[in-house]
Amino acid sequence: MSDTKKTATLSIGDKTLELPIHTPTAGPDVIDIRRLYADGGVFTYDPGFTSTAACESTITFIDGDKGELLHRGYPIDQLAGKSHFLEVCYLLLYGELPSAAQLEDFESRVTNHTMLHEQMQYFFRGFRRDAHPMATMVGVVGAMSAFYHDSTDIADPWQREVASIRLIAKMPTIAAWAYKYSIGQPFVYPRNDLDYASNFLRMCFAVPAEDYEVNPILSRAMDRIFTLHADHEQNASTSTVRLASSSGANPFACIAAGIACLWGPAHGGANQACLEMLREIGTVDRIPEFIERAKDKNDPFRLMGFGHRVYKNFDPRAKVMKQSADEVLELLGVENNPTLQVAKELEAAALADPYFAEKKLFPNVDFYSGIILEAMGFPTEMFTPIFALSRTVGWISQWKEQISDPGLKIGRPRQLYTGETLRDYVNVEDR
Ligand code: CMC
Repeated sequence: MSDTKKTATLSIGDKTLELPIHTPTAGPDVIDIRRLYADGGVFTYDPGFTSTAACESTITFIDGDKGELLHRGYPIDQLAGKSHFLEVCYLLLYGELPSAAQLEDFESRVTNHTMLHEQMQYFFRGFRRDAHPMATMVGVVGAMSAFYHDSTDIADPWQREVASIRLIAKMPTIAAWAYKYSIGQPFVYPRNDLDYASNFLRMCFAVPAEDYEVNPILSRAMDRIFTLHADHEQNASTSTVRLASSSGANPFACIAAGIACLWGPAHGGANQACLEMLREIGTVDRIPEFIERAKDKNDPFRLMGFGHRVYKNFDPRAKVMKQSADEVLELLGVENNPTLQVAKELEAAALADPYFAEKKLFPNVDFYSGIILEAMGFPTEMFTPIFALSRTVGWISQWKEQISDPGLKIGRPRQLYTGETLRDYVNVEDR
């Protein structure tokens, strides 16, 4: 943490507190309130953490006004355009871009951990066929701690490393198998001669009865989707992983907690919700009706895939994703698909509407990712599992950073209590 001479003065009644201010390498200054309760006897109140830095981190930086997303300093558009997912994983995990030898070694370590313990198949088979793949993923990833005991000791750096590689390597197999199980097809085993994205596509779409050839353009688009979702600073699921891990829970349990949080429609579930909304709208003539509903304060409906807590000008991931969507749709010859037509018209109508401009609501990454994934042949239920598998490296990088911090404390927020004060128990016959 950078040392600073700046302080903020806070007066509470007749007390005056001098609070240190930390200056980050980028982003706004941060007032250190750690001694606020001890010295001032008060808590701060910030539900939703709109003004609270919950940790110190060196991994990802977002400037929401500029629409900037940096991983270890590198802008996301350069990473999405010039790098590839496993290289970005290395960057997030270890802090620097790898040399050619380091990358080769890392890719080989990931590739050699893609298979699941064979007994895990029985675990999959215990779920109902119609289980949502996210439900299956939460269960299976949590259960990894029962299958891989030798990498659950968080005090051992080697076990932490093995758990990290295992999670990144096995997540595509878990997501693909959750899908295969839900449609009643045989599980397809990973193949070590394929790259990360091609392997995932094959495990999702191949069947044992015939050969499956991965289209390199689709594989590149898949890899870009993984890259664009790899990490996003202290979002809800990452903060969930950090909070779970602050108690010393094992990595598989922590990542399962992150997956559970990601599932919500305000977070990773938005890509599924967005496509479902586009289908519900159905035809372009119904767009004005839905725009009006999104603006109506008495209607809970929101335009899914629009708005972001941090980005207030544009989502840099959405820019790259939109370009990728155009390429994929052209390749697949589905530019005239009715859902996609609705998406394009809705985007134009919302961007031209003063309500969305005033509130700084722009299409986010989930608006376009669902469109690409649908065109690739993924059912909507698979959209959020794909987000989860991509974000796993971000969760793990943040988890590793937190665990390595010698000053780690259990996360324990306080509250603004507004319930009853002390009162005496009344026997049931007297109530
Ligand atoms: N449609 C209509 N109005 C909206 C929308 C929307 N999608 N998003 C925000 N607003 C309005 C909201 O009603 C509020 O209006 P007012 O100030 O008059 O009360 C104002 O904009 C600010 O909204 P907020 O809910 O206070 O903003 P937030 O920062 O708490 O929420 C959000 C951010 C992403 C949860 C929200 O924009 C939203 O629900 N969007 C739709 C879901 C979505 O696409 N989520 C994916 C986010 S990106 C991927 C990820 O991080 O997982």
